[in-house]
Amino acid sequence: MNTSEPQPKRAAEKIRKSSKLRPRLAIILGSGFHHFAAELEVETAIPFTKLPGFPRTGVKGHAGELLVGRLGGTPVLVLNGRVHYYEGVSMSDATFPVRALAACGVSDLLLTNAAGAINPRLRVGDFMILSDHINLMGTNPLRGPCEQRLQRFVDLSRTYDESLRRLLKQAAQCARLKAQSGVYLAVCGPSYETAAEIRAFGRLGADAVGMSTVPEAIVARQCGLRVAALSCITNPAAGRTQRPLSHAEVLAMAARMKKSGAELLKHFAEMYVTLHL
Ligand code: HPA
Repeated sequence: MNTSEPQPKRAAEKIRKSSKLRPRLAIILGSGFHHFAAELEVETAIPFTKLPGFPRTGVKGHAGELLVGRLGGTPVLVLNGRVHYYEGVSMSDATFPVRALAACGVSDLLLTNAAGAINPRLRVGDFMILSDHINLMGTNPLRGPCEQRLQRFVDLSRTYDESLRRLLKQAAQCARLKAQSGVYLAVCGPSYETAAEIRAFGRLGADAVGMSTVPEAIVARQCGLRVAALSCITNPAAGRTQRPLSHAEVLAMAARMKKSGAELLKHFAEMYVTLHL
């Protein structure tokens, strides 16, 4: 790594200095999940702009701050917002926050996002627990120099941790929400897909499509974190509906799901402590 580049350790130092809490669990809030931040007993809030190495957010609906707080008895580190690859940043910049979280000492990472439904068994308003992913972003966040202490060739055959997935399922049941398991396919965007692409993705085995999460999951696995991911289904994917897709409608649906999304995460965070008993 180039020594003039910001180090995840530097960001982690700043985060650790800001609070006495030492969360094992980190959550990245995407569209549909930002309301969780309002449920948190926040101890510290740091805008991404104040954290060395963190990329800047530009997309409407993504706040961009790091929160350290508690939910019930569980200390949690929350990234409220993310920078997407389609904004023009490099893959290493887009995934820098995950490396900072790992340097902070978290062991488990829950990624959240909004996604379009490819599989007709998924309905708008449902949640999907990622069982696996297909990376069609055309690149890989581990491309380029690799720190010596990290693995160059990372095994992704079990990217999404089984016990965290089980906990997500239980959290959804507690919140009386429908959460099915499925395969998330990542594209780089920012255009939505064509109807032919969505048909092809369905044949490849994808259940939902989105523009985030996969780079973060890959980097988190390289850092040795246990990973889980959750999508809120905001729209039928292109060609699965007569209507054209619009970002405004995706955000509007995400906003309608904010209470249930926060409820699900709340149960997850509360039940998370039971994993370590
Ligand atoms: N396609 C890609 N990304 C998305 C979609 C979609 O249909 N919905 C929410 N994010």
